[in-house]
Amino acid sequence: MSIEKNNNVKWHHATVTRARREHQNGHKSFILWFTGLSGSGKSTLAHAVEERLHQMGHRTFVFDGDNVRHGLNKDLSFNESDRNENIRRIGEMCKLFIEAGVIALTAFISPFREDRKKIRELVNEGDFIEIYCECSLEVCEERDVKGIYARARRGEIPHFTGISSPYESPDNPEIAVNTGSSSLENSVNRVIGYLRDNMLLHMSEDTFADNQG
Ligand code: ADX
Repeated sequence: MSIEKNNNVKWHHATVTRARREHQNGHKSFILWFTGLSGSGKSTLAHAVEERLHQMGHRTFVFDGDNVRHGLNKDLSFNESDRNENIRRIGEMCKLFIEAGVIALTAFISPFREDRKKIRELVNEGDFIEIYCECSLEVCEERDVKGIYARARRGEIPHFTGISSPYESPDNPEIAVNTGSSSLENSVNRVIGYLRDNMLLHMSEDTFADNQG
């Protein structure tokens, strides 16, 4: 984008604010950022957590790596700079969703620590909850749900995460779930337990007013 174009764009402030939307919804908005190898179970877990949150009356939306790469990010490949851009766009999108009062759940490999850190810094403190879906390469490869590891091993897919491209695990995620050995139900309970402990779930009017300060 040219500087000239940037200078002519003004930020428009909405009168319907995030706080008012959160109040109407009766819960906080935030990002649940699932990260892990392909086949580690990010998507399955994100959708199962969403199902639980939805049933509890929360407004939610899941951004899924495979789906987003069919649309919004279909111009991007898997080299490092395109992955940076993939995650940057998703981060900006999630920021809009939390402004809209929605709980945004994302399921992207997001292999680079720096990219994830940038999203954390893009939003307010506490808005970014990183969930490490820990699952060994061996288990992901054994599952090989999409047959994609076999193709990567044959050298048919360049820059494949875990094989010919790195995965940098989170140093200090808010939540780490062992999606290689835990049951789906246990993993969902871990995430919901964290949210409950941190007072992020559906609140009564009184609790919500207290939290608004
Ligand atoms: S990310 O690294 O940019 O975060 P993203 O989550 O969007 O990746 O996409 C990952 C999915 O794309 C994988 O689950 C897999 O199905 C597919 N894929 C295709 N090529 C690659 C590759 N080179 N590395 C990893 N996943 C790939």
